[in-house]
Amino acid sequence: MVDGDTIFRQFKEHSVAEFFKKNQQMLGFSGKVRSLTTVVHEFVTNSIDACEEAGTLPEIAVGLEELGEEHYRLTVQDNGPGIPKTHVGKALGQMLAGTKFHRYIQQRGQQGIGASGCCMFSYLTTGKPTRAVSCYNGTRYELEVLIDFKSNKPILNMLKEEPTQEHGLTVISEYKGVKHEQSNKGIFEYLRRTALANPHATIAFTDPAAGRMVLPRSTEQIPPRPFEIKPHPLGISAHDLLEAAHHFREYRKLSALLQNAFSRVSAGKVAELRRAVPEVDFDKNPSGLTWDEAERVVKGFQQVKWIAPATDSLVPIGRERIENSFRNIFSPELVVVTERSPKVYKGGIPFIVEAGIAYGGGMGAAGKQGEIMRFANKVPLLFDTSGCAITETVKAIDWKRYDLKNFDEEPIAVLVNLASVHIPYTGAGKQAVAGGEEVENEIRFAVMEAARSIQRYLSGKRRAHEIANKRKLVERYVEQLASDLADLSGSKKEKIAKKLNDIIEEKYARPVEGEEEGETNGNGTQGTGREAGKAEPENGESEG
Ligand SMILES: Nc1ncnc2c1ncn2[C@@H]1O[C@H](COP(=O)(O)OP(=O)(O)O)[C@@H](O)[C@H]1O
Ligand SMILES: [Mg+2]
Repeated sequence: MVDGDTIFRQFKEHSVAEFFKKNQQMLGFSGKVRSLTTVVHEFVTNSIDACEEAGTLPEIAVGLEELGEEHYRLTVQDNGPGIPKTHVGKALGQMLAGTKFHRYIQQRGQQGIGASGCCMFSYLTTGKPTRAVSCYNGTRYELEVLIDFKSNKPILNMLKEEPTQEHGLTVISEYKGVKHEQSNKGIFEYLRRTALANPHATIAFTDPAAGRMVLPRSTEQIPPRPFEIKPHPLGISAHDLLEAAHHFREYRKLSALLQNAFSRVSAGKVAELRRAVPEVDFDKNPSGLTWDEAERVVKGFQQVKWIAPATDSLVPIGRERIENSFRNIFSPELVVVTERSPKVYKGGIPFIVEAGIAYGGGMGAAGKQGEIMRFANKVPLLFDTSGCAITETVKAIDWKRYDLKNFDEEPIAVLVNLASVHIPYTGAGKQAVAGGEEVENEIRFAVMEAARSIQRYLSGKRRAHEIANKRKLVERYVEQLASDLADLSGSKKEKIAKKLNDIIEEKYARPVEGEEEGETNGNGTQGTGREAGKAEPENGESEG
């Protein structure tokens, strides 16, 4: 038997960086293809987030160079604001650090482990630092970043500093043991779907073999900015409340803290809370709030009727944008998009679901069958398919009810985007969405609503087909019947035939195909912009 002293001599603390070094798969660094796509995903989402915050039309250039067997150099460049010198180290070389984690706003990044995770992965596979060029506020910094795993602090090597007129961030990093692949899990598919959900972004990709391809923006219109909201009382726990008490020290009374730190809390609501939990003193200084009191206040929150949280803070992709993107990418026969109204999950977290279905036409030709395209805050989710509430909900729909015999074999693509100030991801790798009744219901309703339109279209088409067949059948008798009647009556055969044809025409007036519902695509003529599916190799001219 080993004595306690011996055991506890082993007792050590670890930093979050050490934790993720041991658990890289949690950040999406597992599998050769997935690891590389994850790196692209992290840098590209950061770039789009940064451009969105700065109100710039994103110009993103992704370059991949093959340096050896399973050895690549990746460059991601954007035209965002860049990162100030004071923060660039932490942004790229410290885990759980960033400008987003603590904010209640719809953004792509949430946790502050994306860029730093890549920096770590690069170092662990190549032993090299990550290089960054940041043009911020008139100065261009070039530097190298490493993470000190023990302290989770960045180690910086400043290389150059000079004035510039440019703005934006370029990150250059190398990886070994990864694989570049033209598959539905590869970089190009990732970028294509990013383009689909962000039609205002121009994304260029330099493939080591195929050269430079550009997914040009199809709209100059920057989508409205999602705005920051305060947490809703129904979405917070006792711990959240204590944290708020600690954070907002300027409020001397609990009542003031509640009214200022959370949404929908008015003086009237505080009065209601006082009645609901009379044992709590709402005039006390929040710094002295105990766990027990916080729990009681939260219980009080459940007893008061609240106005739902503001949901106009969310920005979906939008019906028209999805329609155009679908047309441009797949030239389908039919596109239907539904946008649900915003809802609230766990009582206090606003979210919105939109769904699009593209059917037939180029879908079949492209060999697309029963494809589910998942997005969270406009970010494509390519991995962890089976553990995702979106996949499971879409698969669980009884597609036969919608005249789609077997979902997996139909020329159909279903797009679902979930937008929220807090996406309930299943893990730190952010590739799958956790369920929950509210979210799943909305996904189901959105997809079913779109599916109904597809069904109406398909059954209209089928009916038209049936009628046309019947008509053909009847028309076959006209010749013989007209001839027989002419013999019997002595009238002219042609005259009788014309009359018979008139009767047929009246009865089976040609139905217009697909007149029932939805819009047929007219072969993708609408929307001149992005040909995202068929990114054209660039011919000389630079994009911007
Ligand atoms: N391309 C970029 N432009 C400007 N700022 C960036 C960029 N990439 C990262 N950042 C900053 O670095 C922080 C950390 O990024 P990251 O580790 O990916 O975490 P997250 O995106 O979850 O916040 C971001 O919150 C942002 O402030
Ligand atoms: Mg990020």
